[in-house]
Amino acid sequence: MKPRVAILISGRGSNMAALIEAAAEDGFPAEIAVVISNVATAGGLAIAERSGIATVVIESKPFGKDRAGFEAKLQAELDARGIELICLGGFMRLFTAEFAQHWYGRMLNIHPSLLPSFPGLDPHGQALRAGVKISGATVHFVTPDTDAGPIIMQGAVPVQDDDTPDTLAARVLAVEHRIYPEALRLLAAGLLRFDGDLCRSATQSAPERTLIVPAAH
Ligand code: GAR
Repeated sequence: MKPRVAILISGRGSNMAALIEAAAEDGFPAEIAVVISNVATAGGLAIAERSGIATVVIESKPFGKDRAGFEAKLQAELDARGIELICLGGFMRLFTAEFAQHWYGRMLNIHPSLLPSFPGLDPHGQALRAGVKISGATVHFVTPDTDAGPIIMQGAVPVQDDDTPDTLAARVLAVEHRIYPEALRLLAAGLLRFDGDLCRSATQSAPERTLIVPAAH
């Protein structure tokens, strides 16, 4: 049996769509069982419905600062649907340490920077202000700290001198859509293992794929 995955979203859901598309392919080792949004107007809900994926809205706003109350409702939904893995796809709500610990090793997040650089809000603005020449995206296990946790996979893109946060975000997003399904595939196929606080993968990138920007001759 393939592990059943819940994707949690708050907005547009383009990473969600990439995961749904990848999981629809023959041989993908996980099944997207439900998309849950904490925002009723999230654009991703319609995309999921068009793909035939069950959708659920659990609005977090009425819970205010009562994170545990929101999470109890979320956990009940996850239990009812037999969910084994969670993918956060632009889910803009922090979890309690208890919830993060309960799902440790089974909950993934994607963040649009090369963590541990530029966690939190406005990662692309942070990258541009720091003047980095390479940025990218990171898929990692969720821990109680925001945008932290063992790194599973990263993808890099060049930063150009005339980039704005929007142009950089678009370049990084294309990489996000490639690495998130791959990271889920590795996890669901049992190809990841923990080494202390680090995540190791049974697959290795070829050394010739090293990315140096600007190009070094
Ligand atoms: C993505 O860029 C994702 O990496 C980011 O929100 C965007 C959601 O877009 N997540 C974070 O910043 C988490 N700290 P999407 O709804 O189109 O997938």
